[in-house]
Amino acid sequence: MFRRLKNCHNSKDFRSLAKQRLPSPIFNYIDGGADDEITLLQNTKSFENCDLVPNILKSVEEIDTSVSVMGKKINLPLFFSPTALQRLFHHQGERAVAKAAEKYGTFFGISSLATVSIEEIAKNYNSPKMFQLYVHKDKGLNNSMIEKCIENNFDAIAVTVDTIVGGNRERDFYTGFTSPPKLTLGSMISFATHPSWGLNYLLREKFQLPQLQSHIKEGTNVTVSVGDYFTSMLDQNMNWKTIEDINKKWGKHLCLKGIMSVEDAKKAIDVGASTIMVSNHGGRQLDGSRAPFDQLAEIVDAVGDKIDVICDGGIRRGTHVLKALSVGAKACSGGRMYLYALAAAGEAGVERAMGLMQEEIERGMKLMGCTSINELGRHNLRFR
Ligand code: LAC
Repeated sequence: MFRRLKNCHNSKDFRSLAKQRLPSPIFNYIDGGADDEITLLQNTKSFENCDLVPNILKSVEEIDTSVSVMGKKINLPLFFSPTALQRLFHHQGERAVAKAAEKYGTFFGISSLATVSIEEIAKNYNSPKMFQLYVHKDKGLNNSMIEKCIENNFDAIAVTVDTIVGGNRERDFYTGFTSPPKLTLGSMISFATHPSWGLNYLLREKFQLPQLQSHIKEGTNVTVSVGDYFTSMLDQNMNWKTIEDINKKWGKHLCLKGIMSVEDAKKAIDVGASTIMVSNHGGRQLDGSRAPFDQLAEIVDAVGDKIDVICDGGIRRGTHVLKALSVGAKACSGGRMYLYALAAAGEAGVERAMGLMQEEIERGMKLMGCTSINELGRHNLRFR
């Protein structure tokens, strides 16, 4: 079925529209995961392991969905995870996501591999901002990114801790996806049959990775797969001391993105992080690893009173958010939940996707008989 934005009512619909609009290498880069994509699927499926138990007759006309994370009050218990290369998906890229974050009063993040600069984002958008730091071998590059976050008053740095090497993303091998995109015989047909994407890519602002370009050529002038980029450019000797050093230099809210074990959650507290994102990088790194939602309870039980725990990944419905909050997450976040919509329709798409999530969260809260987030708890959840 040929889809339009007004017919998109959920993430599956945005995904179909994105597939329609994007050349296949780009669509499959967003959509794909590592190896057999078992973790990718499990991230969403895990929410089906439990059921919500509502209460009724609780006067729910007025509800409050706000929470505080990383020093900021946000209107929704859901935010936009930082993701890379967004102007490849739609020419509005990070700017569209920043606008939607402003509209809904929530956090969003830009990646070290973002296609818009830290300075521009800081200057033009008021919503709470996080920067996703990939720790590179090039220490000058790491320092420059942290310094720019300080100078431009970002609210939080999220250090990515689950990409010590690139995941095995076989779809990218089949399609030949690289950054910047390269014309191979195979991808040429797909680029040619998606002319509006192609024209936007060729005629609008040139693709660039402003955080990286004054330090390294990869990703801007040199085409490279994201998996190879991680393996060759990132610091495989990164350890807890690295995080301590980053924390000293940065001095504001520090989040570790990609914590999956209780042991590491405890260490995150020791090195001064205020927040952890329980995440497996959208199933794009270690296939066969556990889903964030499945792993949430043991992490919340161990550290939930000492550090903010975010459930990142697999979120496609408002009720997924309600389930994670019931287990004890402070908030949820996701990438594909807005990337399909960005690819489908830019700013209008992201706004529609987040608007639908907001409606689903509010509707779900009312049907659960809750007027504020802290009324959700394990008492209203049963595991099968
Ligand atoms: C990814 C990175 C760049 O492709 O976050 O998963």
